[in-house]
Amino acid sequence: MAVQISPSILSADFARLAEEAARVEGVADWLHVDVMDNHFVPNLTIGLPVVEALLRATPIPIDCHLMIQDPDRWAPAYAEAGAGSVTVHAEAAKAPVRTLRAIRAAGARSGFALNPATAIEVYEDLLPEIDMLLLMTVEPGFGGQKFLDVVLPKVTRARALIEKHGGEIWLQVDGGVSAETIERCAAAGADVFVAGNAVYAAEDPARAVQDLRALAEL
Ligand code: DX5
Ligand code: ZN
Repeated sequence: MAVQISPSILSADFARLAEEAARVEGVADWLHVDVMDNHFVPNLTIGLPVVEALLRATPIPIDCHLMIQDPDRWAPAYAEAGAGSVTVHAEAAKAPVRTLRAIRAAGARSGFALNPATAIEVYEDLLPEIDMLLLMTVEPGFGGQKFLDVVLPKVTRARALIEKHGGEIWLQVDGGVSAETIERCAAAGADVFVAGNAVYAAEDPARAVQDLRALAEL
């Protein structure tokens, strides 16, 4: 279970995305891009044209987190554009099996996200379609929120289900992940860590990524 760090550009300067990506190049495994449509979540960020521009601007693989109402329609386009990973929400996808397969068919890793109140158990049969399970550790929509400890038992249960199915699936946590909370996430079984504020509010984002990785690897 190799630790991976995925800095979220939600906390970066949106007017200088290429430079902000460059600040974590060489240390970040992924660049986490939060696509929000103001319907699935009460916030609006960026869409496909900006993701396409980012793909041209950085060599870091893009980890696309779609917080949108109609992911079945849009997810394959992000994969076709070249995103390395595309994640759709369980609460929004109407045809998750078809959509997860379309993401894989377009050459990306298929991601499936659950909000804090969404149970993992009902999705166990979908695990073979999933390359990365994302457990939200805040209610989605904004960066800089407080980590929800109440999700940790679900991380533990998700890790057990993943092991039962062969252990190949990555387990990502997103929301409030910081030097104060990352060790608990790792101990519960997470291996991919999204960090927005903890990286981009830091004076030295590259150093922040390295520090988070060291804590998660303990
Ligand atoms: C929140 C987003 C997160 C956000 C995390 O809905 O999905 O990716 O950027 O930011 P922090 O790490 O500041 O909680
Ligand atoms: Zn996210």
